[in-house]
Amino acid sequence: MLKDIILKRRSVRKYKDKEVDREVLENLLMYASMGPSNGNSHPVEFVVVDDKEKIQKLSEMNSFATMYLAGAPAIVIVIANTEICKTWVEESAIAASYLQLLCEEEGLSTCWINVVEGKTQDKTDYKEYFKNEFGIKEPYRAACLIPIGYKRMGTKDHEEFDISSKVHYNEF
Ligand SMILES: Cc1cc2nc3c(=O)[nH]c(=O)nc-3n(C[C@H](O)[C@H](O)[C@H](O)COP(=O)(O)O)c2cc1C
Repeated sequence: MLKDIILKRRSVRKYKDKEVDREVLENLLMYASMGPSNGNSHPVEFVVVDDKEKIQKLSEMNSFATMYLAGAPAIVIVIANTEICKTWVEESAIAASYLQLLCEEEGLSTCWINVVEGKTQDKTDYKEYFKNEFGIKEPYRAACLIPIGYKRMGTKDHEEFDISSKVHYNEF
């Protein structure tokens, strides 16, 4: 049930040394692309990084936030064509969220690193960095990194909570 998957999904930053099957991942990426999309434009694409040297390179992008990526067997760079759709950040977030839940159902764990705006540790704009290192150039932009792998340790499930203070009826 979807609710169980949502309860189980937690951000995982330590992965087993076990490959993620490309075919399995491609199937999940196909489902992740089936969310709502502005004008049915579907601007989101994916760069799957499963080459060890490239993963190491990504992990060195930022001094703290990306360090743990070195141990991930695969990292999906969620990218979007900004020319065909102004809402590319939202579209990318929808696909990434779907992907996280699909991975969870498949027994795979994930996390999220936002790369819409910012600079690498050597002060290169993310936009420039992804162009130079991964060939992601205009009109494409990278939105987030989703590391994917089999978790090394157990995680604590989310719990249901009282949402009433965050739900407003008819006015705020
Ligand atoms: C937009 C966004 C940016 C995030 N950035 C990072 C990040 O840079 N590094 C990281 O380890 N986790 C990052 N996370 C994951 C959050 O830390 C995590 O989702 C949050 O602590 C809640 O924990 P949970 O995912 O286990 O429910 C990010 C999540 C989102 C949605």
